Amino acid sequence: MLLLAAASLVAFVLLLYMVSPLISPKPLALSGAHVVVTGGSSGIGKCIAIECYKQGAFITLVARNEDKLLQAKKEIEKHSINDKQVVLCISVDVSQDYGQVENVMKQAQEKLGPVDMLVNCAGTSLAGKFEDLEVSTFERLMSVNYLGSVYPSRAVITTMKERRVGRVVFVSSQAGQLGLFGYTAYSSSKFAIRGLAEALQMEVKPYNVYVTVAYPPDTDTPGFAKENQTKPLETRLISETTSVCKPEQVAKQIVKDAVQGNFNSSIGSDGYMLSSLTCGMAPVTSITEGLQQRLRFIQKRHKNQLHLEPGAVSAAGEPEGRRQPLGARRLAVWWERLRRLIRQCSAA
Ligand SMILES: NC(=O)c1ccc[n+]([C@@H]2O[C@H](COP(=O)([O-])OP(=O)(O)OC[C@H]3O[C@@H](n4cnc5c(N)ncnc54)[C@H](OP(=O)(O)O)[C@@H]3O)[C@@H](O)[C@H]2O)c1
Repeated sequence: MLLLAAASLVAFVLLLYMVSPLISPKPLALSGAHVVVTGGSSGIGKCIAIECYKQGAFITLVARNEDKLLQAKKEIEKHSINDKQVVLCISVDVSQDYGQVENVMKQAQEKLGPVDMLVNCAGTSLAGKFEDLEVSTFERLMSVNYLGSVYPSRAVITTMKERRVGRVVFVSSQAGQLGLFGYTAYSSSKFAIRGLAEALQMEVKPYNVYVTVAYPPDTDTPGFAKENQTKPLETRLISETTSVCKPEQVAKQIVKDAVQGNFNSSIGSDGYMLSSLTCGMAPVTSITEGLQQRLRFIQKRHKNQLHLEPGAVSAAGEPEGRRQPLGARRLAVWWERLRRLIRQCSAA
């Protein structure tokens, strides 16, 4: 009986995987595609541009500083796979004036054709305790991180819908999945992106346009180095509980998810776990994503019931008692780390 049930389950999963490509979005071919990357002159954005270029895309880089743009262009061009590929640079502040952003997007489309993929990666961060941050910081982060993603997307979405082709990528952050000490200004600007993306996906899916939201962890970039200088002790200690990723690794995952049309893009097992805990009612674009989300809900309820009590963790930070699934053990270790951190902070 048990054998029959197991065989039926395996057959069901196999069947789902077989029909999945029929229902999932058709992967976007990057060869010859026009990819616009805002924030493409540095860090994660530059690595995303390189990743797309390596797959044959034509690239438009958007950022403010012209020297940095030209330097990034040279670096990206080293990865060409054919001599027709072009890297176009446009200097504009994506957060200031919608008319200006719309104009530069028009210029880019006139030169390299309609945009097949837009990656909204321009962003900035500044940490600090709520009452220590200037009110203008909240305005600036909202403006760059949120409106700086709205404007370019708004400028290309109509053409994408008309052509019934397109990918729009929003780069949020793990701090856009849960609020963290010191990130009152940054987290809220990154949470806003998720709301925008969820609503937009619902509107554009019938037009074969797919939205991806990426939640990178701490990543070794010039932006991260700058942000580190502003972190209060508590934020630094929280940050130190996880390792710092390489921008190339983050970029690879984001491009892969965007090409597949996945809504959610997380990096590494911690990222996957955080996404599991915070998936809410996020849209799903394939059977695989749908199944994962259901499993995450079950997993989440299971974890909450079994392992969130502090007693479930030994002094060494390892869970005690009966064997727990890997995800639950990691969660228990995290929980213990957080408790130690709070103790450390109150002692400091
Ligand atoms: N690094 C991390 O640990 C991490 C983690 C999670 C999420 N993220 C997010 O990932 C994205 C990229 O971060 P990063 O660390 O790679 O940053 P970065 O190295 O500082 O690069 C930021 C890019 O955005 C551009 N930019 C900034 N403000 C702009 C504006 N107003 N208009 C146009 N371009 C602008 C910058 O060029 P100009 O200054 O010349 O304009 C640069 O090209 C950001 O949205 C960030 O919030 C980063």
